Amino acid sequence: MVENVAPLVAELESEDFYLLSGLEQGMRFSRWVARGKIAEFSRLDGEEMDYRLDRCEKRGLVERKTIQYTGFRLTFEGYDALALRTFSERDTIEGVGAPLGVGKESDVYEARSYKPLALKFHREGYTNFREVQKEREYTAEKDHISWFYTARKAAEREHEALQTVYPEVSVPRPLDHNRHGIVMEKLEGVELSRAELDPEQAVGVLDLVLDEVATAYEQGYVHADMSEYNVFVDSDGVTVFDWPQAVATDHENAAEFLERDCENIVGYFSRKYPGRTPEFDVGSLAEAIRSGSFNGVRALI
Ligand SMILES: Nc1ncnc2c1ncn2[C@@H]1O[C@H](COP(=O)(O)OP(=O)(O)OP(=O)(O)O)[C@@H](O)[C@H]1O
Ligand SMILES: [Mg+2]
Repeated sequence: MVENVAPLVAELESEDFYLLSGLEQGMRFSRWVARGKIAEFSRLDGEEMDYRLDRCEKRGLVERKTIQYTGFRLTFEGYDALALRTFSERDTIEGVGAPLGVGKESDVYEARSYKPLALKFHREGYTNFREVQKEREYTAEKDHISWFYTARKAAEREHEALQTVYPEVSVPRPLDHNRHGIVMEKLEGVELSRAELDPEQAVGVLDLVLDEVATAYEQGYVHADMSEYNVFVDSDGVTVFDWPQAVATDHENAAEFLERDCENIVGYFSRKYPGRTPEFDVGSLAEAIRSGSFNGVRALI
């Protein structure tokens, strides 16, 4: 979706961005923003505003709906356009390339800069939002929490976690953050789930992943979504990505999340490399990580 938005950003004019950001401000207060409010926030006069609304609607950046009144809102593409414009004004990126991964809760693209980067747009809240919207139309304006807010919060949390643990923990280097987007170093390698490790090396790689979990804990974070899908493996070692749900080690559920992270990773290795993964108690592993004494799984046997 963003591949189509990127060339659009280049053809949009300043007034189009006044409109989009006016709409963004209006959406903090209501799901569908009335014309008068858009005019107020975007500081465009009526005729200019209508012209800009039409242009942006035609390009799929804005949608309209008429029930008691005609209201407008940004589409995700419109929100993408605002973030892309900011990234390009800051010279963080020069353009957007091929998709690197499209998930339920995010879209990740290659971004062009002095070297290839990765641009991740969070989409959390959007699916829920659609369902809630269908169920109750827009009667419950007072309960309005926009999906922008949820997606932006997720991006903020992920960027903050990356900034805190980098470079001690092997994570993609974080470069910039705006709205629901983060820009980070592009990773080489393959997801752990797709890596065919030499069985001889399996325990070594398990130790590398758990070392990162232990270092993140020392830095004050529990990833809380560790799995074979959120680890990249290459010839230099392992990198742990996808941090929006990370919690601080003093979070009330931190111990539970840490244990679950350990179970996910150890469980994966035991299933995929049976006989190569020694048996040990995952509770003791989590305890060793918490006390800062983790020193490889063999020490736990
Ligand atoms: N920095 C990066 N460099 C290269 N590829 C990346 C990078 N970050 C993410 N990806 C790719 O994009 C995919 C989705 O990224 P991520 O796991 O961060 O998002 P997600 O919301 O968990 O997506 P999903 O719902 O599919 O798990 C990853 O599986 C990976 O293939
Ligand atoms: Mg993921």
